[in-house]
Amino acid sequence: MHPVILAIESSCDETSASVIQHSKVLNNVIASQTVHHKYGGVVPELASRAHQQHILDVVNEAMTTAGILPSSLNAIAFTKGPGLMGSLLVGVSFAKGMALALGIPLIEVNHMEAHVLAHFINDPKPSFPFLCLTVSGGHTQLVKVKDYLDMEVIGETQDDAVGEAFDKAAKIMGLPYPGGPLIDEYAKEGNPRAYSFPDTAMQGLNFSFSGIKTAFLYFLRDRLAEDAAFVEKNRNDICASLQSHLISMLMQKLRRAANETGIKQIAIAGGVAANSGLRGAIRDAAAKNRWEVFIPDLQYCTDNAAMIAMAAHYKFLQNKFTTLDVAPVANLAIGI
Ligand code: KG4
Ligand code: ZN
Repeated sequence: MHPVILAIESSCDETSASVIQHSKVLNNVIASQTVHHKYGGVVPELASRAHQQHILDVVNEAMTTAGILPSSLNAIAFTKGPGLMGSLLVGVSFAKGMALALGIPLIEVNHMEAHVLAHFINDPKPSFPFLCLTVSGGHTQLVKVKDYLDMEVIGETQDDAVGEAFDKAAKIMGLPYPGGPLIDEYAKEGNPRAYSFPDTAMQGLNFSFSGIKTAFLYFLRDRLAEDAAFVEKNRNDICASLQSHLISMLMQKLRRAANETGIKQIAIAGGVAANSGLRGAIRDAAAKNRWEVFIPDLQYCTDNAAMIAMAAHYKFLQNKFTTLDVAPVANLAIGI
């Protein structure tokens, strides 16, 4: 059977809905929340309120533009976690209500697995096994993907996520949230070798990004003590140097994982996979190491319901449904 599924994503600060039919994603409606910009990070209470305001319109738009009637749906999918509890609750409750009213099954989706499965929305698609570097605002993971729903985390951050390092560094420079895309823009005009930062590498395949955040804070404090306009005068070079340092920390572990596993199909996923420097670095490494690389469209890197729909499609085919007493989970590991 080729199911028709409505998927809802509400784990952080994007309210999104998508309809998938016969394994083809028909749309990807996203309402982004701007209310957090002035606070320098996502405010959980404001996020869940904004989800409540947006969810009905977002779902209606996804259904209308897909040309699908509710009676044609075979299942409703939602993000179970990981994410912000108040945000997740809005999506889970909405999905439960629709499933109950329509008398169709529910499908829970792990947000991080969905980031990986975004690779199956469009061609070219990787084959199994492949390695995926999943980099977002909340996670930094090296995942060995053995099958659609069989993934093993072989390395991950022991403290901050790399997206958090981008966002916190941006905040220290006085840039609004989310700072990752802004650092990317300024970095394009800067010299990546202008400043150097300490290497805070972990053993094995794990990452650590909290040290670089502190080092960056002290670096700016010392420079600003000498020249109050240091950031304004050197913003492009600071961004380029920091970004290239963070990328080299990611690439070092990715190369190691590829060598240790012998896997040559390499993918990146998650919000930080939208970074132009990382996309370039992975293409360069592909040429050097004879990797075949998979880089999702920008709209499928940051949070979106299309990836939830894609994951739900594979769960439907394996009869992996969820009962109505399901609750969201803030910290949910891959594979659970
Ligand atoms: O996957 P995502 O949308 O949400 C989470 O699941 O966390 O990732 C958001 C993260 C934020 O930290 C944001 O700054 C970062 O992805 N990000 C970027 C870029 N676009 C988004 N970081 C660096 N460069 C970008 N172009
Ligand atoms: Zn995400």
